[in-house]
Amino acid sequence: MAAEIINGQLLAKELRRNMKNEIAELKQKGLTPHLTVILIGDDPASHSYVRGKEKASAEVGISSKIIRMDKTVDQKTLLTKIAALNKDENVHGILVQLPLPKHIEEQKVIEAIDPAKDVDGFHPINIGRMMVGQDAFLPCTPYGIIEMLKSKNIEIAGKHVVVMGRSNIVGKPMGQLLLNENATVTYCHSKTQDIKSYTKKADILIVAVGKANIVDSSYIKDGAVVIDVGVNRTEEGKLTGDVDFDDVKEMASFLTPVPKGVGPMTITMLLSNTIKAAKGLS
Ligand code: GUN
Repeated sequence: MAAEIINGQLLAKELRRNMKNEIAELKQKGLTPHLTVILIGDDPASHSYVRGKEKASAEVGISSKIIRMDKTVDQKTLLTKIAALNKDENVHGILVQLPLPKHIEEQKVIEAIDPAKDVDGFHPINIGRMMVGQDAFLPCTPYGIIEMLKSKNIEIAGKHVVVMGRSNIVGKPMGQLLLNENATVTYCHSKTQDIKSYTKKADILIVAVGKANIVDSSYIKDGAVVIDVGVNRTEEGKLTGDVDFDDVKEMASFLTPVPKGVGPMTITMLLSNTIKAAKGLS
């Protein structure tokens, strides 16, 4: 039987409609959520992501500002800017687009952001709170994936979830959020031996590797839920995931496409975190 497709774009639209209403109410009370994004250098993918964040913010009524810095900017200038944004009470969310130029220490920059404005959920304070199940800003991609699973009433508790990939942005927090939902979690990565012996046992398989079409039907159990986090470009410039969609779609019970899968949900959860920051919950 062919898999049911989880359309992230449709779900994102629905969630953004609700956010728009909530923001209209906040504005009536004199509160306009504001997100400032710092974009360094000229990486085309980063520019495209930031444009997407700007457009989505405007669509729901979040005010946003992009601060562009040259790729030669020194770390001190960047940290001074972040300190000023931390102090500015009109700025609710701060996001520094990654990756950063090599001469800048990424972790120092992440830790410079006030945890109460860390809408990426990358600050160790938020990661720690997430681990112990306290209220926290959750990293947008894993948070969006949890919302996608819930939107289809896919059972997580007691299920065996295999996460392929262990990045700080996706893989690691993904496993933690699923554990918080009472899943049994296995992480696989580039050093894992006989990876298929794990992935073939997954009830839910999350693929966040960054290699086009690395997962085909030989990796998955019949009826598994398959979530594709990959964002790869083919030689022709077409966007494609980590999962061989056509090969897997006959085996999986649910499957996310690329594009129109996880991507639009990541941005949506950023909007949600910005509203949360404006309301000052954390
Ligand atoms: N680069 C790729 N994904 C992300 C993200 O979610 N947040 C930031 N800040 N940079 C990224």
